[in-house]
Amino acid sequence: MRTVDIIEAKRDNRPLPPEALTDFVNGVVAGRVPDYQAAAFLMAVYFRGMHTEELVAYAKAMLYSGATLSMPSLKDRYKVDKHSTGGVGDKVSITLAPLVAACGPVIPMISGRGLGHTGGTLDKIEAIEGMNVELSAEDFERCVSDVGYAIAGQTAELVPADKKLYALRDVTGTVPSIPLIAASIMSKKLAAGLDGLVLDVKTGSGAFMKSFDDAATLAQTMIAIGEGMGCRTRACVTSMEQPLGRAVGHSNEMVEAFAALRGEGPKDYLEVCMALGVEMLQLALGVSADAARASLRAAIDSGRALEHCRRWIEAQGGNPRVIDEPYKYMPRAPHERMLEATVSGYLNAFDCAEVGRACGILGGGRATASDKIDHAVGIEVLAKLGDRIDPGTPLFSIAYRDEDKAKQAEALLRQAIIIKDSPCQAPSLLRAQFSKASEEASSPGKSQ
Ligand code: URA
Repeated sequence: MRTVDIIEAKRDNRPLPPEALTDFVNGVVAGRVPDYQAAAFLMAVYFRGMHTEELVAYAKAMLYSGATLSMPSLKDRYKVDKHSTGGVGDKVSITLAPLVAACGPVIPMISGRGLGHTGGTLDKIEAIEGMNVELSAEDFERCVSDVGYAIAGQTAELVPADKKLYALRDVTGTVPSIPLIAASIMSKKLAAGLDGLVLDVKTGSGAFMKSFDDAATLAQTMIAIGEGMGCRTRACVTSMEQPLGRAVGHSNEMVEAFAALRGEGPKDYLEVCMALGVEMLQLALGVSADAARASLRAAIDSGRALEHCRRWIEAQGGNPRVIDEPYKYMPRAPHERMLEATVSGYLNAFDCAEVGRACGILGGGRATASDKIDHAVGIEVLAKLGDRIDPGTPLFSIAYRDEDKAKQAEALLRQAIIIKDSPCQAPSLLRAQFSKASEEASSPGKSQ
């Protein structure tokens, strides 16, 4: 089909054959399809969506637009990964990868950097002196094989179609299209040759998907792509109505992630790690949820999970002693100030994205792609939804370098919370779980 026919078919909501979508994606990468036609197609998808067969063909074409990681030494190992759609205080990968690796499967984790108000796993890892997240395919495979997991960025050879199409989406108002987001995420994740994938789709004020319904649709769309491409895929929709755990930043998030590997640290954070770990082990080992939970618990209690983390840090260039003496090997901001409540009541609501932005203002985010992250700064969230608040109750502590930036962050943080007289309950963290077998396996907190 000519590109104009592909655009018109999508515009008129007529189904597209898989070959047409493969040609389109290949044409974009090869430069045969001009940007104006690619942009018109993306806008047509934005309005019309994509059917499952179209999506699978489109994502597959994106995936095979470049190299994939074949990792021959791991061909007999179950390869499972987790992907989060991004949130505030989301350091789950740092805890989850060693925790699951300590139970048997291997985790070739390709991660990203901070986007907007959300933090990025690679940026957090780079808080540790010497850590290298730009691994060659060979080093990545060796690390997964030796340690059980590796966490690294996408190389230029993987999924070039997404690079091109994402840049066009960014300037054509077509980023917030669920099928385009789903194809973009899945093509990159599946480039690691996964057998199984667990998606953590965040919903709430700190997530890109603000509404539960959009999060659920994204979860189901990504499952359709993953399963359509032969990768067992499950999804949890989890709450991002408030920051996850207490730490928001880089060095401080790493400290919290290490604590969780000792079974310490905030309960909400550990709960999300366990829920995702259970899904990953069920996929990889075919065990019951109870058995998976018991394995994860044993990996923490025995110290095996922490030991995997030490080996990983060493393998990717850091000093594993960072786990015991974090601020010897990670930067710490020189100043700290506490924000206290001035009124009484209950913490009823967070504008969670504002907490992420406050961290960005301190220096923990990028305003432009070339900005350098300050790993030392950060925020500790000391009061959570539902907590009783009185004048003087600590709400946040801010670790900072620059007084003006700290003042701006403080103003944002004060606006980011609502304290009311009426008591309220913390929202349930695990809002729903989805898999191919059941449209919606369960929805523990959907109505809240
Ligand atoms: N993350 C991605 O990788 N792609 C999108 O389209 C949105 C978020």
